Amino acid sequence: MPQPNELTTTDTHWFVHDRFGLFIHWGIYSVAARHEWVKSRERIPDEQYERYFKHFDPDLFDPTMWAREAKNAGMKYFVVTTKHHDGFCLWDSALTDYKATNTPARRDLLKPMVEAFRAEGFKVGFYHSLIDWHHPEFPVDGYHPMRDNLAFREAQKGRDVRKYAPYLHGQARELLTRFGKIDVLWYDFSYSQMDWGWAKGKGKDDWQSEKLLAMTRELQPGIIVNDRLEIGGDIKTPEQYQPVGWLEAGGKRVVWEACQTLNGSWGYDRDNLDWKSVDMLVKMLIDSVSKGGNVLLNVGPTARGEFDSKAVARLRGIGEWMKLHSRSIYGCTASEFTPPPDCRYTQNGNRLYLHLLSWPFGHVHLPGLANRVECAQLLKDGSEIKILAIDPHQQAQNTRMGGLAQDTLTLALPVQRPDVTVPVIELFLKE
Ligand code: GLC
Repeated sequence: MPQPNELTTTDTHWFVHDRFGLFIHWGIYSVAARHEWVKSRERIPDEQYERYFKHFDPDLFDPTMWAREAKNAGMKYFVVTTKHHDGFCLWDSALTDYKATNTPARRDLLKPMVEAFRAEGFKVGFYHSLIDWHHPEFPVDGYHPMRDNLAFREAQKGRDVRKYAPYLHGQARELLTRFGKIDVLWYDFSYSQMDWGWAKGKGKDDWQSEKLLAMTRELQPGIIVNDRLEIGGDIKTPEQYQPVGWLEAGGKRVVWEACQTLNGSWGYDRDNLDWKSVDMLVKMLIDSVSKGGNVLLNVGPTARGEFDSKAVARLRGIGEWMKLHSRSIYGCTASEFTPPPDCRYTQNGNRLYLHLLSWPFGHVHLPGLANRVECAQLLKDGSEIKILAIDPHQQAQNTRMGGLAQDTLTLALPVQRPDVTVPVIELFLKE
């Protein structure tokens, strides 16, 4: 079994078992279709941003279809933006008018999503922005869309984050009480290290993080909370990079989840050209599990409520690989063995999975595994891969390879690379 969490006492077994989740960033920024930070990046005042609110009409929204695409890709849990930094809410919050029910959508968009994903067997996660660029008491800082408008800053300098915090807590309470069991809460984010001179960043004192976390755990016992409240949490959340190894805190391995995009943007970004290939995405998943981590892979649905064709193509490509190889992902974790170059290991008990990121000619040599393997199979079809016993003292001669280190196991590979995104060899270790 994968390692238990060493960072907190929360039970994360399901989480480290499942390994692969879907992140969804959806809101009125999907209408702008230029990244979910568009309001800040382009310094758009409320009056202009309003056009996205007035014209958000997701007539093609079909959460069952989303859930099925995600399930087919091998994902097991999902995390959706209930509110992003622009303050827009997908659910029918009693605490604001700035919500889906008041757009042309005319309905709560969160509830049917939760129900559809649950019906497909998914665990449910909520992303909730700590930041709010719409709330009138949220003090203007260096990320705020109005940061360069000196007159606005002056007129709004009386804003008080202590008046914003009850709103933040009140909405979290709604999310934690109205939608049944919530498995993950993904708060985003703290930045108290920032100092723009005229304004400071915000963090745990502003959010009243201790209180917010206590309420979260009280309302949803067993919930997994991320690490962005600035007071620790159950999981670490590296964003848009692959860690070099198992993440640690205080010298101990922790539960972690890399959140990754399909193209560098979280929200739908129509003209984006940075799409990752299926090959790269599958390798990122393998890489994370080989280092003891999860992947939360994002889709930014369109303003009409669809996963666009490029996202679907990638999810389906991943799904094709997962259909034959999910055994090397679910329930797996880092291996104690060191893989040869261009390879990654994952392990589940006595099953060791060798992922060949490039396909070598003829042989692959596995240090430390001599006499440890009962049987080796290509995972895609269960066909035997021959184990060669090479005398370590054997002299190289013409067509005969020389002996290798005593502890090295050699596998004989077919010349033709198996026709899958990443070939995997399943090694059954001797007990
Ligand atoms: C960041 C960004 C954001 C995105 C998130 C996902 O903190 O502000 O737009 O939602 O991370 O990890």
